[in-house]
Amino acid sequence: DLYRVRELSESTVLFGVIGNPVLHSRSPHLHNPVYRREGMDAVYLPIQVDDLTSFMDLADELSLQGLSVTIPHKEGVIPFLTVRDPVVQAVGSCNTMVRRDGGWFGTSTDVEGFLRPLREEIARGGDPVMKAAVVLGAGGAARAVVYGLVQEGFRVLVLNRTEERARVLAEEFGVDWGALSPESAERMREFRGLIVQTTSVGMEGKEPASPVPWYRFEGDEICYDIVYTPRITPFLEAARRAGCRIITGDRMLEAQAEEQMRLFAARYRELRG
Ligand code: ATR
Repeated sequence: DLYRVRELSESTVLFGVIGNPVLHSRSPHLHNPVYRREGMDAVYLPIQVDDLTSFMDLADELSLQGLSVTIPHKEGVIPFLTVRDPVVQAVGSCNTMVRRDGGWFGTSTDVEGFLRPLREEIARGGDPVMKAAVVLGAGGAARAVVYGLVQEGFRVLVLNRTEERARVLAEEFGVDWGALSPESAERMREFRGLIVQTTSVGMEGKEPASPVPWYRFEGDEICYDIVYTPRITPFLEAARRAGCRIITGDRMLEAQAEEQMRLFAARYRELRG
């Protein structure tokens, strides 16, 4: 009884996740049990959205108070925000909307969600062998990762299959770039404190593979995959076998969801005291 439909009333505060597809999203399973435990008269619903403009009218009509935003709408919602956290501009995406003064406040909890498990791992297992990181991939997810790493003071090398895309991302943040190919192995070693995997390679439903099958791990790298299905990706499996410390993508998913819950709970208290 994830949605506690029998307990809903006209005063129940509505939250949700918008995306497409969204039916198998894990977010309702993360949010609803917490609302229940906190005794909140609130529910968090998955809402499949094609057309954002008409959905925003529905959101007003239903008085939705907070939204998680997922693929493919993380960029598309930005024009609907009335107040933007500076992080939205910096990473070019918004994954969290909270109603404020009749409009929408937007932020991205991806940066904090990415950094928190990293800080925890460093607190637990010690500093990386060098304050430098390799980011594999240059898509939307990589932007939040690069932004967060630069904030934390890491030197960063972005490697991407399409090198031009790595260049554009890297230049925006003033970091290094290169091609995702065996010729980059030596440079990778010079940035190997942390290796972050942000590509879709190794994701469930695709061929099980690592984007860097040619890289020989030293064993002193911290390896972080932001993909969470499967929990242990082929990249992490190879890293673990080499003796590396690993951080799984489910921890980022949980940390960014916790950050959203904090924002949604604050909105709930504003409304219900
Ligand atoms: P997201 O927003 O989730 O990061 P994306 O913008 O589609 O998604 O980016 C996907 C990333 O995975 C890109 O870095 C992509 O590389 P390209 O820019 O060259 O397309 C990378 N990627 C996808 N399939 C790949 C593959 N088979 N080998 C290497 N990289 C791949």
